[in-house]
Order: sequence, then C-alpha cells, then structure tokens
Amino acid sequence: MTAKRPARPLLDGSLLPEPAQLLEGVNEKVWIEVIQKMDEVYNDLLQYEVALEQNNAALEESHRFIASILASMSDILVVCDRHGAIEEVNPAFQRYTGRDEPTLKGTSIFDLFADDKARDKARSFFASHSHDGAQDVELPLQAEDGGAVPVSFNWTPRLSGTGKLIGMVVTGRPVGELRRAYRELRQTHEDLKRTQQQLLHSEKMASLGRLVAGVAHELNNPISFVLGNVLALKRYAGRLETYLEAVHNRGCDCIPELEELRSELRIDRILEDMSPLIDGMIEGAERTRDIVDGLKRFSALDREAAERFNLAEVVQRAVRWVAKSAPPSFTVRTELPAELPLRGSPGQLQQVVMNLVQNALQATAAQPGGELLISGELGDRELRLIFHDNGPGIPDEALGHLFDPFFTTKPVGEGTGLGLSISYGIVERHGGRIVASNHPEGGAVFRLTLPRDLPAA
Ligand SMILES: Nc1ncnc2c1ncn2[C@@H]1O[C@H](COP(=O)(O)OP(=O)(O)O)[C@@H](O)[C@H]1O
Ligand SMILES: [Mg+2]
Repeated sequence: MTAKRPARPLLDGSLLPEPAQLLEGVNEKVWIEVIQKMDEVYNDLLQYEVALEQNNAALEESHRFIASILASMSDILVVCDRHGAIEEVNPAFQRYTGRDEPTLKGTSIFDLFADDKARDKARSFFASHSHDGAQDVELPLQAEDGGAVPVSFNWTPRLSGTGKLIGMVVTGRPVGELRRAYRELRQTHEDLKRTQQQLLHSEKMASLGRLVAGVAHELNNPISFVLGNVLALKRYAGRLETYLEAVHNRGCDCIPELEELRSELRIDRILEDMSPLIDGMIEGAERTRDIVDGLKRFSALDREAAERFNLAEVVQRAVRWVAKSAPPSFTVRTELPAELPLRGSPGQLQQVVMNLVQNALQATAAQPGGELLISGELGDRELRLIFHDNGPGIPDEALGHLFDPFFTTKPVGEGTGLGLSISYGIVERHGGRIVASNHPEGGAVFRLTLPRDLPAA
C-alpha cells in the first residue's frame, strides 16, 4: 500500500490535479492533436539540423581558407595572450623554430628568442608598446639547428570588443635572405661602377693617345731640325770666336773704325754670352726632343717586335740601373719567382719598371730610410708585379689623374709627368693593366697585371 501524497497547491490557490485525474476525459481527438504537434516539432528539428549542418560546412570552409592562407604565408605569424603565451602559430613559424604546433601552444613567445639580450628587448617592446604596437624590430629567433635567424618583427595589440588588451599579434620576416640579396646587389653595383670607370678611363686614354700621337708627330720634325741646326750653330760659333779672337789679337786697333764698331756692337760681350746661350738652346731642344720621344712611346708610335722573355730578369736589371743613381739610404727588395714568362718588348717593360722604381725613389727622398718592395706572382693566366713603397702615398685627389700625360706634382726639371702615362700605354699594349692605390698601412702601391706567355698547345 502506497501512502497517499497530499495534493500540491498552485499559485492561484487551487490544487494540482493528480495525473490520473488529468487523463480522465482525454479523448481520441486530443491524442491526434498531440501527435500532429509532435510531428511539427520534429519537422522543425529536422530543419534546424539542416541549417546547422550548412552553417558547420560554411564554418569549416572558412576555417580551411584561413588555414591555407596561414600555410602559404612566408612571413611568420604568432598570436599570443597578454602574457606572451602562444595561442596560435602559422606553419612558417613552426618551420623556423623547428617545433610543431602542439609544442608551441602555451609556450611563452619570449623563450623562443636566441639569447637573453633579445628576450629582454622583446619583453620591453611587449610591455611598452602594448597599446600602439611596434614596427620593424629586428631580433634573433632561435632556429631549429640552435643558431639564430635575424627576423624583423611587427607587434600589433589584439583588443577585445570593449577595447581591453587581450594579447598581441606578432608577424615577422626573416631578414637573412633580404640581407644576402642586398649584399649581392651592392656587390654587382660596385662591380658595374668599377667597370664603367675602367671603360671611361680606357676611353679617355685612347683619345688622349690619338691626340698625343698627332702632336708628337707634328713636333718631331721641327724639333729634330732645331736640335740639328743648333748643334751646327755651336760648331760655327766656336769657329767664329776663334777667328775674331785672332783678328783682335792681330791688333785691329790700328783701324779706328773697326775698334769703334767693336765697342759699339759690344762684340766682346756677345762673344762671352754666345756659348752659354747656345748651350741653353741645346738643353731646351734636347728636353723637348725627350718629351716628344716620351709622347711617341705613350701613343705607341714606335713599336717593337714582340719577343719571349723573363720579366723577373728585366725587373732585376731595371732595379740595378736605377740603384746606380740612388743614394745608399734607398733600398729595393725583390720577392720574385725565378720565371715570369712574358711576350712583348723587354725594353719597354724595363722602362715601366724603371719609372715605377724612380717614382718610389723620388717619393721617399725626403725621409731617412726609403724602401720599395717589388713582389711578383705567377698565376695560371696572368702574372702580377706589386710595387709597394714606404713613402707618403698618393693624395686622393691625384689618384684619378696619375696616368694622364703631364700630370706631375714635382717641380719643373724634376718631373715631366710622362713616366706613368708612358708606362700605362706600354702595359696596355701588352694586354695588361696598371692600377695605383694607397696601402692601408701607408705608402703607394702600383699593381701591374700582364697576361703570361703560355706555351703553344
Ligand atoms: N710612389 C709614388 N708615391 C707617391 N706619389 C707618386 C708615386 N709615383 C707617382 N706618384 C705621383 O704621380 C705623379 C706622376 O708620376 P709620373 O707620371 O711618373 O710623373 P713624374 O714622376 O714626372 O711626376 C707624380 O708626380 C707623383 O705625384
Ligand atoms: Mg716619374
């Protein structure tokens, strides 16, 4: 026997009827209505489910879309909370750090930098730019192999709907690649500039060569006959002097008109002056002839037949020649391979070496111990001679003009400014090049490169 439950009162004071009481009097019609209602509810449920599935599919689609974008990003992307704990990363970041997504999630972003300095810097950026973000902050990220990858980071704050800071979105681009590309670009640019300068220089030298060749050709004949004539004049003057002296000694004072004319025309002064005047003319004419010779050599007016020879021997000979007239305080050291095979004119190459040794001697003349080191190298296709002295070096403003004809910083009589331009012409005709520079530790450096004579195959 079950105890009878007391009836429960409803809000309006009436009592809740018992279930048996409720079902009393429910007829078939009511049942049908209930079943119809249930049908409707079921239909509604079905529709909701279809809509839900459609929404789910759309959601999945957009999820896939976002994931594909994140996957194809070459830049790295990290989303973290406001303490720096990682919430989301893209595959690029996983690749650079060498860690997978589950390991990275929850890790502090600061633990992923390469060293303490970078970690501190990242923390301070995170703290001080949590509201405005920061751009192009370069920090090293620890790479998979334990090394460091320099990355340029951008920090952007992530805010909630109410504007509260909930974290940071960090994007970054590894700059190693960029740097390498930039370095390569700069190198190419430098090479291009150098080639352009060389081109300009050879063009300038070529047109100078043509001009100088014309001038030398025009001057050659007149100066030859000036010199020839003045030498003849010197001989004639000597004879005239002897004759006049004889006349005077024979006592031409007996003819007063002649005596008068002698003093009026200052014949004795003239006889005294004549010899130094003619000597001056000869000296001037000879200097001019030497210059014209130099110009002819610069512009290759006189070519010699090419022969095979050892440049090392030529260098030693040139050094001996210059050393003859050099003070003992000037020393030349040579470090040369025994053989420097070359094809061309040994005489002209000797002149080049003599010019360079002479210049080193003059550049170091004012100091107590002048030194020149000539070193040689024999490469597969080229041979090189390097002249390094311990003089004052070449002023920057002179470097661009050194090989111009008549460029000199020496007083008149000491330098014609032709030595290096002649050398340039000779070296160029041998298919080589000559470059001047200053040594970082002082002194001038002249680098001569010539194509070596290769034995016929
Ligand atoms: N070894 C060197 N050290 C410093 N300056 C030099 C050296 N060699 C050449 N020069 C500079 O180059 C100029 C031109 O040289 P060069 O053509 O031989 O003419 P020159 O010797 O007659 O002056 C020199 O006047 C000098 O200013
Ligand atoms: Mg000289």
